[in-house]
Amino acid sequence: MTQENNSHHLMGLEEKLFAQRSLIIAANRGPVKFDINENGELQYQRNTGGLVTALLGLLQYVDATWISCANTESDRLFGRGDVVLGDGARETHMVFLSPDPQAYEGYYGVISNPLLWFLQHSMWDLPRNPVIDHATWEAWEGGYKRVNQLFADEIIRQIHASPKTPVVMLQDYHLYLAARSVRDQMEPLDKTAIMHFTHIPWPGPEYWRFLPPTMRQAILDGLCAADILGFQTQTDSLNFIRTCESFLPQSHQNFKRGWVWYRNHTTHVRDFPISVDVNMLEEAAKTLQEDEFGAEIDNVVKDMQLVVRVDRMEPSKNIIRGFQAFEEMLGLYPDMHGKVVLLALLVPSRSDVSEYQDYQDNLMAAAGRVNTRFGSRRWEPVRVLIGDDYARGLAALQRYDVLLVNSLADGMNLVAKEGPIVNQKNGVLVLSESTGASQQLGVGAIVISPIDVYATAQALHQALTMPLAERKERATRLRWTIEREDIMYWLYQQLQTVVDLNL
Ligand code: G6P
Repeated sequence: MTQENNSHHLMGLEEKLFAQRSLIIAANRGPVKFDINENGELQYQRNTGGLVTALLGLLQYVDATWISCANTESDRLFGRGDVVLGDGARETHMVFLSPDPQAYEGYYGVISNPLLWFLQHSMWDLPRNPVIDHATWEAWEGGYKRVNQLFADEIIRQIHASPKTPVVMLQDYHLYLAARSVRDQMEPLDKTAIMHFTHIPWPGPEYWRFLPPTMRQAILDGLCAADILGFQTQTDSLNFIRTCESFLPQSHQNFKRGWVWYRNHTTHVRDFPISVDVNMLEEAAKTLQEDEFGAEIDNVVKDMQLVVRVDRMEPSKNIIRGFQAFEEMLGLYPDMHGKVVLLALLVPSRSDVSEYQDYQDNLMAAAGRVNTRFGSRRWEPVRVLIGDDYARGLAALQRYDVLLVNSLADGMNLVAKEGPIVNQKNGVLVLSESTGASQQLGVGAIVISPIDVYATAQALHQALTMPLAERKERATRLRWTIEREDIMYWLYQQLQTVVDLNL
C-alpha cells in the first residue's frame, strides 16, 4: 500500500469506525510537556521517545483523549484540557494523572525502568543484577500496581463519559496491569475494545522465568484481559504466546491463528510494526532549511563526511560500542583521519535511575578516548551534543552520509525510519540486526551484529566509501519501504483488526 493509499484507507476507516466509537490512548508519557514561559503562561512542546514520535502522527488524523502521568510541575498545573499538535491537526484531550511521588518512583524508577526494561532488552547482568528485595516488592505493590490502577480508574471514567463506545489503546510496559482492572470494572454489556501495544521487544519464556512468579503471572493475566495485543515483530508475538504457554496456567494457545484463550476470553495477538508520519516529518524538515542548527552542524562538519547517531542516552542503544567501532575504523583506515566526524546527538533520559547515570559517565569517557587517541588541534573525530532538541536532530538527519543505529535490542527504532525520509545526501544506514526495524529495512541498510565492533567498523568504512549509484539505490529502497508502511498503516491495521474481529 502506498502512503497516499494508507491515508485514503485510514480516512475511510476512520470515518466509519469513529462515527460510532471514540479513541482513548493511555501511555506513561504524554505527547507534550508543559512549562511556564517568561510571561508566566503555560506553554507546551512535544515530548521525545519512540512512542511519542509514532503516536504524534496519529493525532493528526483522529480526535483522541490521551491519559498520561504528569512529568513536570507545569503538567500537574495544566491537569486536563485540549491541545493541538501540528498545523491542521485534530484536538487531543490531555489528562495528566499525578500519582504521589513515592508511588511514581516505584512504578517508573524501580519496576518499569530498570526491571522490566532491562529484562525485555536482555540487559540483565544475572550474576549481579537485578536483586529483587523488599524495596522492589514495595515498588511493585505500592508503585506499579497502584499507578496501573490509577490509569484504569481514569479510563473507566472516560468510558462512562463518552457518548460513543470507545476503543482503548494502552501503550507499553508501564501499563501491563491496566487492561485487567479496566475489564474488571466494565459493565457486562460494555462493548469497549481494549488493545495493548508493546513498543519494546518481548523476549521468550527463558527470560521471563527469572521474574518472580507473582509478578510474571500478574503481567500475563493483565495483558490477557485485552482484546488485541500488538507487538512490533512476529518474533515478539510468538514469544508472548510461548510465555503464556509456559507460565499462564489454565490458558490455551493457538500459535497459527495468534490467540490466547484465558478466563473465558480470547486475546488476539498480532504484530503491527510501528512507524513514523512521513507527511509530518517532511513538513517539519522543510521548515528547517535555513535553521540555525543546520549552520551549527555545517560548521562542525566543514568539508568532511558525517556519521550521525541520534539516541536517548540509554544502555540499550549501545552508544559506547558505537564509539569503539568508530575508533576501530579510524585505527584500520588511517586515510580517513581528518576526513570524517561522528556527531552523536544524545537526549538525556531517565537520569534519576542509577544504571543510566553510570552509563552516561562511561559513554562520555569512551568518546573522550577516541578524541585523545586520534584528535588534533584541527580535527575532533567525535562530537557529542547533549540536549533535547527535535529540530537539531532533524537537521543532523538531513545531513548525514552515514546513520549509525547499533542498538543491542530495540522494539523498532524510529530514528532508522526518520533518517531516510529527511536525509538529503543519499546517506547510508548502518543498522543493528537486533532492532525491529531491521526486519523491514534490512534490504536497504548495511546490517550488523551490535556487539561486533569490528564488523561495525568495516560497515562504517563500507558506507563512507560506497559509490554514489549504490548509495542512491539503497536510499530509494529505504524510503520506499518506510513510505509504504508508515504510521497510518500501523493504525489502519489495528483498526481493521477491530472491525474484522467485530469487537
Ligand atoms: C521508549 C519506550 C517508551 C518511552 C520512550 C522514552 O520508546 O518504548 O514507552 O516513552 O522510550 O522513555 P521515557 O522513559 O523518557 O518515557
